[in-house]
Amino acid sequence: MKRIGVLTGGGDAAGMNPALRAVVRTAWQHDAEVIGIIRGWRGLAEGTYETMTPGSVSGILDKGGTVLRTFRYPEFATEEGTAPVAKTIKELKLDGMVIIGGDGSFRGATKLTKEFGIPVVGVPATIDNDIPGTDISIGFDTALNIAIDAVDKVRDTATSHGRIFVIEVMGRSYGLLAAQTAIATGAEEVLLPEIPYKIDDVARRISAGYKRGKQHAIIIVAEGAGKASYVSFELQERLARDVRMVVLGHVQRGGSPSAYDRILASRLGHKATELLFEGKHGVMVGVVANKFKTSSLAKSGKVSAKAVLQDARLMEILV
Ligand code: F6P
Repeated sequence: MKRIGVLTGGGDAAGMNPALRAVVRTAWQHDAEVIGIIRGWRGLAEGTYETMTPGSVSGILDKGGTVLRTFRYPEFATEEGTAPVAKTIKELKLDGMVIIGGDGSFRGATKLTKEFGIPVVGVPATIDNDIPGTDISIGFDTALNIAIDAVDKVRDTATSHGRIFVIEVMGRSYGLLAAQTAIATGAEEVLLPEIPYKIDDVARRISAGYKRGKQHAIIIVAEGAGKASYVSFELQERLARDVRMVVLGHVQRGGSPSAYDRILASRLGHKATELLFEGKHGVMVGVVANKFKTSSLAKSGKVSAKAVLQDARLMEILV
């Protein structure tokens, strides 16, 4: 392999930069040229790229976001969106690519191999941690720590005022980020897409908590389980107490990657590049039980709800 490409796709995740740094520096060990595609899949369609060197990725290890930038480009699933990619692929003559991103990017990666014959290896990076084949994806730990920090702060004011707070956490249709935020902050309730709930029951439990002497109530809502505005409105209607809401939103996606994410990203970025040079491709590399594990990109399905259900159960016991 003389020349490989690398791109970051989908929603950014803290740790994409250290992953990129590891890809570039590993490829240089193999005397290969590295082309960074700017703005993800859209960059591939528009032909925006730059040559990357070990020097060009210096000083990015601790930076949030992605220096390669990213873009939501669902058009890549269509014929019109794919046609311009062919031109860039021809121009660049890439021998392989490392794709850093979530499930949408991995679908793009599979398409890249199928339609253009480019060998690809995927690196899982999304704050949602909803990619099958890895225990954890890059960005999850940082986002979790940001959410925990925010909830801890909200709890101080909630206790002072005796208020109920409904806090919405990201995660798309997967509840793990919310479930683990709830465990780590000792929240009173967590509402998850995987577990149906009734607002009347939530109100009853909150009310019982106050009767037992609680000074506040923190309810974590996974974005896939409903809007914080809806939950807080409904609770306000049922309980004669102040209810406030906080939507953490994109705050969870930014900031310097945690120590865990820096190391995970460095390991996965390195391993993915080594796999590409070994001729193993069409796979994603993740970590399962603390060991690298490869899984087919083409066969990647929906993540199991098991981890969320286990954490929800723990949360119920410990509350
Ligand atoms: O997939 C990461 C994520 O942050 C989800 O948790 C969230 O639902 C979505 O992206 C938001 O996407 P956007 O940044 O395009 O608004």
